[in-house]
Amino acid sequence: MSIFVILGLLVCVKAQGSSAVTPVFVQKGEDVMLNLTEADDLENSAVIWNFNNKSSNEVSILVRWFLRTEPKVSPDYTGRIEFTVKKYCVKLKNLQETDSGVYTGQVFGGVDVQTRAEYSVTVQDPVSPVKLTVDSVSSSSDSCNLTVTCSTQDSHISSIFTCDTKTCSQEGGERSEVTTSGASLRVYLVHDSITCNHSNQVSWTKDVTKIQDFCSQHDGSECVSAGISVCRLKTVVFSIGLIIMVSVVISVHVYVKLKKQK
Ligand SMILES: *[C@@H]1O[C@H](CO)[C@@H](O)[C@H](O)[C@H]1NC(C)=O
Ligand SMILES: *[C@@H]1O[C@H](CO)[C@@H](O)[C@H](O)[C@H]1NC(C)=O
Ligand SMILES: *[C@@H]1O[C@H](CO)[C@@H](O)[C@H](O)[C@H]1NC(C)=O
Repeated sequence: MSIFVILGLLVCVKAQGSSAVTPVFVQKGEDVMLNLTEADDLENSAVIWNFNNKSSNEVSILVRWFLRTEPKVSPDYTGRIEFTVKKYCVKLKNLQETDSGVYTGQVFGGVDVQTRAEYSVTVQDPVSPVKLTVDSVSSSSDSCNLTVTCSTQDSHISSIFTCDTKTCSQEGGERSEVTTSGASLRVYLVHDSITCNHSNQVSWTKDVTKIQDFCSQHDGSECVSAGISVCRLKTVVFSIGLIIMVSVVISVHVYVKLKKQK
């Protein structure tokens, strides 16, 4: 028995050390391509793709080739595996949560076994929709405060936004939280809109609210992006124009009156 244990250990040690695990995220129901590189020198070897289930920790074989034979697909995977033009690369279709785990492509040549590819696959559901609600608005003549809550089915996050006539800022900066399902929920400011973003590695959903719709003092005009100077300049130009116009009107009026008197 001990010789088998030693052999087993040798195989494991060799198999583990020979390649890095690549993390891959797949949306539930979609496919994954399992690639073997250096496929050219595999003609005289046996190739096996196996799967180590994340939750049960059981290892099963997906497909195997022995020395230039047709591939043999395991009964559990019949109809779920497609072969690509590139030999020994397989496409596993319609992934479900139970397919999360490590996929290993092993090559047996002579006496040793080499792990050529190792993918740690995580199957995720797309994230649920989010809703951004404005809880309260308090405003004065020159400032406006907004409290919002961004919520999903299983979590929510609140944040306060403060605006003056020119700019808005988020109290404490971007807020974020990891939901119970492992997705991330974030609230942040993009230009003059509050964005709520619910995302995981395979999908995201958002809800956006324009600050102007709640804060009238904050007009969100070009003054915001261009800074104070443009607004000031406009006011100054407008005022000077008005003064000149009024002066001209008065002068003409006086001139006409004087002429009449003569
Ligand atoms: C396998 O290769 C294909 C084509 O080059 C690529 O689109 C795919 O993402 C690869 N699979 C993985 C799990 O990296
Ligand atoms: C908004 O919040 C700031 C900081 O907390 C405060 O100084 C300001 O008075 C508030 N404005 C209004 C209109 O409530
Ligand atoms: C939401 O977050 C995801 C992940 O960070 C990102 O790819 C996406 O562009 C974001 N969407 C918006 C509208 O900001």
